[in-house]
Amino acid sequence: QAQDAANGEKVFAQCRACHQIGPTAKNGVGPVLNGVIGRKAGTVEGYNYSPANKNSGLTWDEATFTDYIKDPKAKVPGTKMVYAGLKDEKRIADLIAYLKQFDAA
Ligand code: HEM
Repeated sequence: QAQDAANGEKVFAQCRACHQIGPTAKNGVGPVLNGVIGRKAGTVEGYNYSPANKNSGLTWDEATFTDYIKDPKAKVPGTKMVYAGLKDEKRIADLIAYLKQFDAA
């Protein structure tokens, strides 16, 4: 089934409390998510990561991001991201399609 970036934008509502995305995005509770798919973990300039995230050695490719967003604390033990997790594969795929619309600044 096709990825649906418009639906992904609705899913992203769950992330907006802590994350900004787009040309005017700034770090907040969480780091800016421009260009996140394909990005090395813990590398947003000026954002104060937990050691767990900073030193995870992960790269947010689609498979790794999918694992992470299902259960952040399982994938990155000690992360300070407080998010219960999104389990639905279709919604995750749509979220990825949405995120990929925004290049790294
Ligand atoms: C980190 C995505 C929801 C707070 C991250 C990272 C990703 C991510 C990919 C790692 C970034 C990096 O390494 O540069 C998402 C998505 C969300 C979501 C897609 C929604 C589905 C939230 C929510 C909060 C939050 C609701 C706050 C309650 C944080 C924080 C970090 C982070 C504080 C830094 C973690 C650390 O340094 O340990 N998020 N997030 N996120 N997120 Fe989220």
